[in-house]
Amino acid sequence: MNKWWMEAIGYQIYIKSFKDGNNDGIGDLKGITEKLDYLHLLGVNLLWITPFYDSPMDDNGYDVRDYFSVSSEYGTLDDFKILLKKAKKLGMKIILDFVLNHTSDEHQWFIESRKSIDNPYRDYYIWQKPKMIDGIPHPPTNWGSFFGGSAWQYDDVTGEYYMKIFSNKMPDLNWKNPNVLKSMIEVGKWWLDLGIDGFRLDAVSHLARADFKDSNFSKDIVLDWFKFSNLPDNHKYLNQLYKGLFKPNDAFTIGEVGGQASIDEAIKYASNGSNEVSMVFNFDHNWHNNIHEITDINQLKVHVISLKETLNKWQETFKDIGWLPLNWLNHDQPRLVSHYGNLDYHKQSATMLATIMYLSRGTPFIYQGEEIGMTNYPFKELSQINDISTLNGVKNQIDKNPLEANKIIDKALMTTRDHPRTMMQWDDSTFAGFSNVQPWFHVNSNYEIINVSSQMNDPNSIWSHYQKLFSLRRFSKYSKTLIYGTYEMILKDDPYLFVYLRKLNNETLIIIGSFSQEQQILDIKNYPLEDILIHNYDTLEMDNQILNLRPYETICYKVKEQS
Ligand code: GLC
Ligand code: CA
Repeated sequence: MNKWWMEAIGYQIYIKSFKDGNNDGIGDLKGITEKLDYLHLLGVNLLWITPFYDSPMDDNGYDVRDYFSVSSEYGTLDDFKILLKKAKKLGMKIILDFVLNHTSDEHQWFIESRKSIDNPYRDYYIWQKPKMIDGIPHPPTNWGSFFGGSAWQYDDVTGEYYMKIFSNKMPDLNWKNPNVLKSMIEVGKWWLDLGIDGFRLDAVSHLARADFKDSNFSKDIVLDWFKFSNLPDNHKYLNQLYKGLFKPNDAFTIGEVGGQASIDEAIKYASNGSNEVSMVFNFDHNWHNNIHEITDINQLKVHVISLKETLNKWQETFKDIGWLPLNWLNHDQPRLVSHYGNLDYHKQSATMLATIMYLSRGTPFIYQGEEIGMTNYPFKELSQINDISTLNGVKNQIDKNPLEANKIIDKALMTTRDHPRTMMQWDDSTFAGFSNVQPWFHVNSNYEIINVSSQMNDPNSIWSHYQKLFSLRRFSKYSKTLIYGTYEMILKDDPYLFVYLRKLNNETLIIIGSFSQEQQILDIKNYPLEDILIHNYDTLEMDNQILNLRPYETICYKVKEQS
């Protein structure tokens, strides 16, 4: 059955860095409202906005203090209502980031919960008695947290540990307690009643926990995904949310199920009839280069074949049974063009990456700034970093391995979640048009060259290419094929060329992208060219049905029907 979200173009807004509407240096709801016309012009009609609930901002808002109010840094509930109204007028849907795994330690539930072991909110969180060794309290298990250190934090009010798989200030909710489900349904319903269209479900593969037994990965504290990822009860909780919240309110949902969700798990979460979520974000395609092996960023190389294999595997698996989001990277990962493109061929590689991803079968979700090819930030030292997970992670690794400190820091600077969080580059004025005052975080110095305003005026820019891709999907005579057509990858073993076909009825489109800075040859005798839909060079070099592809060239054309 076709759904509106299959035909949508999604855009992720990391609110803190998108646009400052009141000039205090912090992105906010007013800023987003100001830019809705811009997003509309780009061709976007589905916005995912990262959390703007009241929060002490330990993790920039993913630590929620009150789900029913807006953080004063980001504006007011009225600001959000204005945003929503304008978005509706423009035909845009809005989904919020719903944080279900944890709250802030400053949330009222946790304030109550930690007071005493018989407090009515005690069981909203996961508490365990210490493991006593020689009379000294130790964490109940050796499980590690994603942000470094133990997954348990001692609380001396009651002498017990609470679980927290992210930061100390983000205690995990106890989904075994049916009241947690009830409370979260109330939260979700409240926002849906305001008029939002659904949710991106944060860290939603982690709601269920294994029995509290040590991981046998190591004797020390160790991150063991199996203890709190994709466990059978996780599906049960999502199904309860589906029945109690998503389905009755016709909410669109996209679950973040992280790196460890195998395709089999993803099928359980998000295939037709799974009764859990509409689709899932997975991270399988996010690290197909050598970034974790190198120390010099100039040696970065993309593993094209394995990247193709992974993307193709997801396409193949979901072709008859479900729908996928089409996304490269997000606010937790490097910038696309720095990661998988080539800065010497900035425009060509950015447009090529966009073409091969967003003409696939699924719903595009781009991350703010991707549409102009924003790049990683040249971080030089740890003092430039804001992200809690980078800071905690580095500290932990250095504690274990003090002699390797410099190496650990250099690595972290290359992969930190802060790369995508520098200010959106709107124009070439001071602070890149993000704000009139010094922003809360860095502005990349390349804003004078890479910015929205200059690219919107250039029909050959990365921005214009994105706009064209979206318009092809939404408004062209090829829409149906681009949205609903089948996906068939060819030349799977070619180390540079990414090529696939989209077919519907008698129409075949071919999408070609080169990951090479050298010339590549492609024989298209079996796929004769009839009509070019999009291309990132002005001219085509073709001789006797052999395409001569220049660096990072990309093209999509309609294949002539052969009799
Ligand atoms: C998700 C978010 C990330 C956040 C974490 C904890 O992975 O994408 O930014 O830190 O959940 O809420
Ligand atoms: Ca502001």
